[in-house]
Amino acid sequence: MADGAGDILKNARAEAWAMPLETMDVSLGERFRDNTMWPFFERLRAEDPVHYCAESEFGPYWSVTKYNDIMTVDIDHKVFSSQGAITIANPDQDFLLPMFIAMDPPKHDAQRKAVSPIVSPHNLAKLESVIRERAGEILDGLPVGETFDWVDRVSIELTTQMLAILFDFPWEDRRKLTWWSDIITTDKSDVMTEEEGRAELMQCGAYFTRLWNERVNSEPGNDLISMMAHADATRNMEPMEYLGNLVLLIVGGNDTTRNSITGGLLALNENPDQYEKLRADPSLIVSMVPEIIRWQTPLAHMRRTATEDVQLRDKTIKKGDKVVMWYVSGNRDEEAIENPDAFIIDRPRPRQHLSFGFGIHRCVGNRLAEMQLRIVWEEVLKRWKFVEVMGEPKRVLSSFVKGYEHMAVRIYA
Ligand code: HEM
Repeated sequence: MADGAGDILKNARAEAWAMPLETMDVSLGERFRDNTMWPFFERLRAEDPVHYCAESEFGPYWSVTKYNDIMTVDIDHKVFSSQGAITIANPDQDFLLPMFIAMDPPKHDAQRKAVSPIVSPHNLAKLESVIRERAGEILDGLPVGETFDWVDRVSIELTTQMLAILFDFPWEDRRKLTWWSDIITTDKSDVMTEEEGRAELMQCGAYFTRLWNERVNSEPGNDLISMMAHADATRNMEPMEYLGNLVLLIVGGNDTTRNSITGGLLALNENPDQYEKLRADPSLIVSMVPEIIRWQTPLAHMRRTATEDVQLRDKTIKKGDKVVMWYVSGNRDEEAIENPDAFIIDRPRPRQHLSFGFGIHRCVGNRLAEMQLRIVWEEVLKRWKFVEVMGEPKRVLSSFVKGYEHMAVRIYA
């Protein structure tokens, strides 16, 4: 950790434990950007695991912060609905994008089924060699011995290439996918108005509509667009619903894996004994990958809406209330995970984490994400002794996407 970062965390700890509980709001993006949200969640887990925040930028909301309570909410999709909204921020009512992650059964189940073949074991096996080849090309193009941005050159490039493969998207235009993903997940108010942002997304819709029209009349292909164009549940979607599901697949497959690739390298640098252990035994990659995904928790939360009054621990949640499951906190719950703040690449039961959610919305791409991370680390270890992180990374200003904008690194062959 860089000088100063320790002091900032110490101050945050003092603030977290001194403030009146009823004023605690864990949704502040600034705390995620500064990586100081940890003690606030620690206090909630210890003193008020189901916590009501009456006032926030996003209005009133409940926070669920312990592992087992999060599971209880996540698997009860009848009482805790996903319909219409799955993040703490409510969607803009004048720009609604229906997507199956924000739907309840039966429509959710049917649309999810339409795209699920993309991650069948057969398809994953086919994708493995393509991803390995692309990853190798990206890594071979990196400047050894010079400082460069790992996020841009490796994490973004790799996940963007994978998305392009999944959509069978025109290769030369693939950075458009990164651009659209960023418009959706990050605050772009410094470079464009809200209207301009929406216009960009409509262009995304128009671009993908051209691809749809080409594929709907061809033999069913093995890409996400063909799958939606040929399945009963998705072939007659309204334009905004098509755009919504595209947004889901673009963001779902992009930011999350990207931030795990960056977070894994950071975790290894902050824990040099683990990097050493990995170099000595690369077969540990298999258990390291889920540990990275737990440690990073690329999506800090998912949100539900209560469909009836319901008791959770000592609290009564009212029908219509917003309920936020803080995966980032559950993954550090000492009652569920031993020594949860430590990054341990050979931890027993490393898949015991909340980062992919649970229940009917559990991440469709979980095995694909794990495969991608495994390949990246296999290829990195084959090539170089050490990739050094050159200072604190710049983190994203968001309490939803937990990730990195830049991270300077240097490779030692
Ligand atoms: C480390 C990487 C990833 C993480 C941490 C992650 C995390 C998540 C989480 C937390 C959910 C919601 C779970 C819930 O509400 O219970 C989700 C759903 C989803 N993810 Fe991922 N994801 C990752 C990679 C991917 C990839 C590579 C894809 C690409 C295909 C993908 C596609 C989806 C889709 C389509 C859904 C919606 C599922 C549904 O509503 O039924 N994800 N993911």
